[in-house]
Amino acid sequence: MSVESQSMINVSEDLKFNLSNSRISYIFQVSAEGVLEHLFFGQRISASHGLSAGPRREFRGCTLEFQSIENYNLDDTPQEYPWYGTSDSRQPAVHIRNGEGNSTSTFLFKSHRVVQNKPELNSLPSARGLDSETLQIQLLDSVTDILLTLNYTVYEHHDVIARSTHFSNNSDHAVTILNAHSSCLDLPQGDYELLHFNGSWAREFESERMVVPKGRFTIESTRGASSNAHNPFLVLMSKGAGEQNGDVYATTLMYSGNFSLSTEKNEFESVRILAGINPFNFQWVLEPGASFSTPESLQVFSNQGLDGMSQVWHRFVKEQVSPLQFNDVARPTYLNSWEAAYFDVSHGKILELADKAKQFGVEMLVLDDGWFVGRSDDTTSLGDWFSDAEKFPEGVEETAKQVKAKGLKFGLWFEPEMVNRKSKLFVKHPEWLIQVPDRRFSTGRYQNILDLTRQEVIDYLFDRLDSFLKSGMIDYVKWDMNRVMTEVGSLALPSNRQLEVPHRYMLGLYQLLDRVTTKYPNVLFENCASGGNRFDLGMLRYMSQGWVSDMCDPVGRLAIINGASHLFPLSTLASYIGPVPNHQNGRFTSVKMRQDVGFFASARGLSLNEEDLETSREEIEAAIELYKKTAQDMVGGSFHRLKYTNNEVCWQLISSDKRRVYVGYYHILSAPNLPYRRARLIGLDVSVGYHLVSSGEVFGGDALMHLGIDLPYVDAMQHQEGRDYNNHLDKGDFASNLMVFERV
Ligand code: GLA
Repeated sequence: MSVESQSMINVSEDLKFNLSNSRISYIFQVSAEGVLEHLFFGQRISASHGLSAGPRREFRGCTLEFQSIENYNLDDTPQEYPWYGTSDSRQPAVHIRNGEGNSTSTFLFKSHRVVQNKPELNSLPSARGLDSETLQIQLLDSVTDILLTLNYTVYEHHDVIARSTHFSNNSDHAVTILNAHSSCLDLPQGDYELLHFNGSWAREFESERMVVPKGRFTIESTRGASSNAHNPFLVLMSKGAGEQNGDVYATTLMYSGNFSLSTEKNEFESVRILAGINPFNFQWVLEPGASFSTPESLQVFSNQGLDGMSQVWHRFVKEQVSPLQFNDVARPTYLNSWEAAYFDVSHGKILELADKAKQFGVEMLVLDDGWFVGRSDDTTSLGDWFSDAEKFPEGVEETAKQVKAKGLKFGLWFEPEMVNRKSKLFVKHPEWLIQVPDRRFSTGRYQNILDLTRQEVIDYLFDRLDSFLKSGMIDYVKWDMNRVMTEVGSLALPSNRQLEVPHRYMLGLYQLLDRVTTKYPNVLFENCASGGNRFDLGMLRYMSQGWVSDMCDPVGRLAIINGASHLFPLSTLASYIGPVPNHQNGRFTSVKMRQDVGFFASARGLSLNEEDLETSREEIEAAIELYKKTAQDMVGGSFHRLKYTNNEVCWQLISSDKRRVYVGYYHILSAPNLPYRRARLIGLDVSVGYHLVSSGEVFGGDALMHLGIDLPYVDAMQHQEGRDYNNHLDKGDFASNLMVFERV
């Protein structure tokens, strides 16, 4: 191997590529035949050390030999970007129908180069490249003259490898890309388990953990949005890995559309992880001279369990993905008009709510749905982004001005991608909908999707949003999206390009988001899609925070936040204290429980009507005060999952200056005489003391980490007079306690 240099990317003379920072390595090589063979992803291996372990070439019964090379069995060779048709029978990373009509290819090594600046992807969001290096590998199929460029970015301070693939057609024939994954990772034989996050409306991010099965296992979306059914995030780990132990390999995509993440364990028990655009219902015609970029895939390795993995993601999302201008900015508390008034909003009502917000110490008033022309319920008006003249005679900009004059910030709801057929826009432009000829529409919430493959639609939407934002009166935008795609087609595209529509739609959406957020960098954008129906790093590249779920009941939210926190830092999460009985599941919970669960988010608000506010005035005022006092810690702190069972959850956040530690403990159903519980805290300074604010007791950092803290106990009686019930939970179901420690 070459002498180790300062570079994070080392290339030996015999073409072994070692991408290493001081903690992790990603290593692959070029075989004598030019096949890109994967060697290793895991804890750092120094570039100057020889790598004896590589793919073996031995006789096996009844296997195929690639290009008739003795014992070269691609089915048992870990590869970087496998193709279809020449003896690897697993799902390929790339599958192309060539001008001859067949789909066999052979992508062999052509060249490589190292670049210091991470190249941007064509019209797609990608992670920033601060303190990174990128290796570009060119692979050529000499029969079709299709050239692939594989991009690998390694970061000095993040244990993340970012990957993407660029296709160029250098031939005289059009070809059709059937399958273009962003990354392939062939892990060696091993006992792996996988974890993925799934759900539906109002129960996003439920988790399922299972042994990696033989055969294929796929999480995917075919809905035109990444969806709440499966978040585009897949974790593989060594058997038995826990929060603090075990090897973890995690993959996500910077993509918000139809994706697929799959594992395939074949007869030789290696495990292939493919990540990219879902090949189902996808194809892309690549004309001579044209090129195509896949979305970016991000891969993390941690040898410190799921918590170790989450710490890597959280820092990476904050430093390399989220808009930088809001990264360390405490988010304002807000009062949202939705559950307070639904569609019944008006200038007067909003000013009243603003007064209420002000009285309660809230910092921003958000005018949710119902403000634009004719929007009295959800059957009408999406697309007509003009103020309703009856409800807002002088325009919402004037309402915003008056709200701001009260010393509040002002936020506004849009659902730009949608149109009701009961709207002026549809009457004028029926051709602007995603649609196929001769079929009746399926509708969701009475609405259809605008065809963002058309530049004139993107321009119209930009113009409409711009007309409000340019008033300078809008500090925050909630960008909603409330239905997924059906009858997928575009009247603007020829028949051989109809299966390009879902991806072209995403390119159009990203263009619109890029234009709006670039023109208004100081407006805080919140990503919403009926809650978490499109909660992914593609969207969070443009928007600093997201409404992760419409589920406002705190018990319902525990699983959602716990699941989402595997990938997403609290800086990207928003929460509300909502009404009781809860509008989604009818549950009654105390303001304290709602406050303590909502606490673990950086954007915290209220979605309550005036009566609800008045009924619990003192508690809500105290909650807002607590939220404001801790807002800075939420965007900068480190979050850890200490405990998660069916009945108990315990989370910890430590502020970035390590001076304050917040421990939330949630007990769902009460029961008498339970065992005492304890949780060991994480990331404290072992040499100092921490004082528990509620009791004044001081604990050593080492004791809190190694021995742990007694968790509050549910004493179902709580009747002994004179006893201190400080470290107890309230009697009854749905109890919580938020412990605050300060460094002495
Ligand atoms: C979606 C959102 C809600 C609200 C409504 C408005 O359901 O998730 O928070 O904004 O739309 O129509």
